[in-house]
Amino acid sequence: MSSSPIRRIAVLTGGGDCPGLNAVIRAVVKTATREFGLTVAGIENGFGGLIQNRMRELAARDVFGILSRGGTILGTTNRDNPFHFPVEIDGQKVMRDVSDRAFENMSIHGVDALIVIGGDGSLTIAKELFDKGMRVVGVPKTIDHDLSATDATFGFDTALNTATEAIDRLHTTAESHHRVMVLEVMGRYAGWIAIESGLAGGADVILIPEIPFRMDRVVAKVLERRDEGKPFSIIVVAEGAKPLGGEIVVKRRVEESFDPVRLGGIGNLVAAEVEGQTGMETRVTVLGHLQRGGTPTAFDRILSTRYGAGAVNLVMEGRFGEMVCLRGPAVESVPIEQAIGELRTVPLDGDMVRSARQIGIALGD
Ligand code: F6P
Repeated sequence: MSSSPIRRIAVLTGGGDCPGLNAVIRAVVKTATREFGLTVAGIENGFGGLIQNRMRELAARDVFGILSRGGTILGTTNRDNPFHFPVEIDGQKVMRDVSDRAFENMSIHGVDALIVIGGDGSLTIAKELFDKGMRVVGVPKTIDHDLSATDATFGFDTALNTATEAIDRLHTTAESHHRVMVLEVMGRYAGWIAIESGLAGGADVILIPEIPFRMDRVVAKVLERRDEGKPFSIIVVAEGAKPLGGEIVVKRRVEESFDPVRLGGIGNLVAAEVEGQTGMETRVTVLGHLQRGGTPTAFDRILSTRYGAGAVNLVMEGRFGEMVCLRGPAVESVPIEQAIGELRTVPLDGDMVRSARQIGIALGD
């Protein structure tokens, strides 16, 4: 690995977008240029842009006004992996390791180090590039709150607030029409968005991947409420929830992405069962990508800003192969492999689950 002084860095966003990415980019550019006198190259569309040599200059004026903007000004993709990249040979598409091109393009643009803002897929690639000799640091992102190596990732708080607002809105219409409303939220294999928005929004039933549910328990809760004079209910179901002894519901596969499985559809299954077994009109809302779009909350803007500045500090301290993380009140760092090793799921013996039960929320078991 080179030990030449750092004069120019590059930054890319990889994987699914999430609120706060622009705030990280802004903090990276401001810290790099103002504090350390570096120049910054922005790589377009994640690792695809690194392979296809799509870099543009990012000066302070390029990041004015983006703190509160959702998405990423650099673009992103969850399909492109330099170690497994589609190339055409004799008219046929075949997968090849083209990671050498990433090194060549960094060198063409005089880039000394790379900041990768991404989830488990992008950070896995970042680790492989580091192992191959690139000077890389990571910034973790995901709305799912499922990375065990950090207390928080930006994007989750915004998604949580969006889901909570949706529950508030469903409540008034559910009560007026005496209906059961099912809200399906994201989160992949972790139930954080579901359980936290369900608690914040006062849901009656919350179904999460960590607790395989029994339909009779869900139906019993809805009927119990009706018998108490509350002929409406709110059920929040995580996209990764599954019935006891049943399977997770897969909506589609996106081949070439780190995890090709795309979840979705469990909300409809739950709603059909509830309506069939209670006779109560039951409607479904799938919140989908609304959870990933729009303005980041104050919490996410602040965390993104601290992560962006922290990532540049890691570069200047030569702490390559590491990523920024939050530990209690402080931004610290850990080796990237720790971020990609273990999934953080909702602990079944934690007070979040216990409090939900204690106030009468049914968790389907
Ligand atoms: O990991 C973030 C996330 O939004 C998950 O909650 C969801 O399962 C997935 O990405 C959806 O991915 P895509 O945007 O490719 O459909």
